[in-house]
Amino acid sequence: TLREFDVGQNGFLPSDLPLTILPDAYYKPWETVIHQLSELIHGRELRAKVERLPVLSVDHLHTTPEWRRAYLILSFLAHGYVWGGDKPSEILPPSITVPLLEVSTHLDLPPVATYAALNLWNFTSSSPQLTSPDALHALHTFTGTEDESWFYIISVAMEAQGAVIMPFMLEALKAAGRKDYLTIAVALDDLSSCIRQLKSLLGRMYEKCNPQVFFHQIRPFLAGSKNMGPAGLPRGVYYDEGDGKGDWIQLRGGSNGQSSLIQFLDVVLGVEHVASGNSTPEPECGGGEMSFHEEVRAYMPGPHRRFLEQIANRGSIRDLVTQLGNSPEEQTLREAFQAATRTLADFRNKHLEIVARYITIPARKHASGAAGKVNLASTLSGEYGVAGEKIQELTGTGGTALLPFLKQVRDDTVRAGNTQC
Ligand code: HEM
Ligand code: ALA
Repeated sequence: TLREFDVGQNGFLPSDLPLTILPDAYYKPWETVIHQLSELIHGRELRAKVERLPVLSVDHLHTTPEWRRAYLILSFLAHGYVWGGDKPSEILPPSITVPLLEVSTHLDLPPVATYAALNLWNFTSSSPQLTSPDALHALHTFTGTEDESWFYIISVAMEAQGAVIMPFMLEALKAAGRKDYLTIAVALDDLSSCIRQLKSLLGRMYEKCNPQVFFHQIRPFLAGSKNMGPAGLPRGVYYDEGDGKGDWIQLRGGSNGQSSLIQFLDVVLGVEHVASGNSTPEPECGGGEMSFHEEVRAYMPGPHRRFLEQIANRGSIRDLVTQLGNSPEEQTLREAFQAATRTLADFRNKHLEIVARYITIPARKHASGAAGKVNLASTLSGEYGVAGEKIQELTGTGGTALLPFLKQVRDDTVRAGNTQC
């Protein structure tokens, strides 16, 4: 059943609103800091505050919503600590690492700010209806800006739309087993209109998230320590567990690319992503390279990752469509499938436009105006801000080569719509 995969009435979002405070007063020290996060970062006081925090135990966490809130708090503190100074800190202190490592193990997530921490478990709503971003608000932000809240909340509204999509697409997969072509064709038409809704939600990003604010203030906090270029954190982050214990860990930063919903669409339709140099070569010799999409499954909550694996094992609609004949019903289905992949490719084109406006253009503006100055944002993006110099090696917070990667992903989607082979 869907429940065992933590998929509920709100899709990959929790069925109840995330907790706004940990109920046990034992965690008051964490709650105090997270509630002042943006002010502490702004005043450059967060690091000292975190260093003075006691190393709290996870023994007072009981329910899943509590574990999730603990993960949210600690991963926000971790990124605030690393990126919230004049220079990034390569070391995380035990007050964060000790509980964060335990909480992430419990939730089957990496000890870093993932899409789950920033988006899935970080919202409140003034309406039970989560598909409208106007009723939603982020619980926590690094910057205290409306822009940052909106950046997270647009994804939340999209995930809520996913709750509508999943039930009928799962039915469609069942219908594939009994070759009930018309049912699948109708589901694919519904899917196309839902993806158009997702695209229009994505386009609402402009309403309250300013590209300059996003590029210069927000995104530096989302950065990771993997594939972020030589000027990032090339060794990773040292998770100091105290008493001489600790490890260097390299992880990708927060990225909506970790959304299970968009991967769900790929999996049911049968869109396959080729590895394109944005992921880590598999350690076994002779093994191919994992695609970004495969690799970021590890950044999804364990149950959601297992859900996608299970769906992938059932085979995709594309598998069925490539075997169809030419009866009117089969043709209807083929056309509905092609339309759905086109709509998903369209969505990805819209996303490419967003990336150009929120990353490429601000980076270029910055490079032409900064005359040799290097700041955090330019360092992170692997762009050195020398006037007139071409912007090179821009990287996403998720550690990809941005535009070439995203164009590849769009082309993978277009290719899936070709059912001749
Ligand atoms: C991937 C930027 C909003 C979904 C990416 C990547 C970047 C990026 C740079 C490449 C991966 C990386 O290295 O991080 C942005 C920007 C946004 C934005 C600047 C808004 C200001 C969104 C939203 C969603 C989304 C709201 C919806 C859930 C995805 C997905 C990928 C991705 C699914 C993986 C590639 C794919 O499957 O198409 N994004 N993104 N993005 N983003 Fe966004
Ligand atoms: N992944 C997005 C970026 O690179 C957030 O800015």
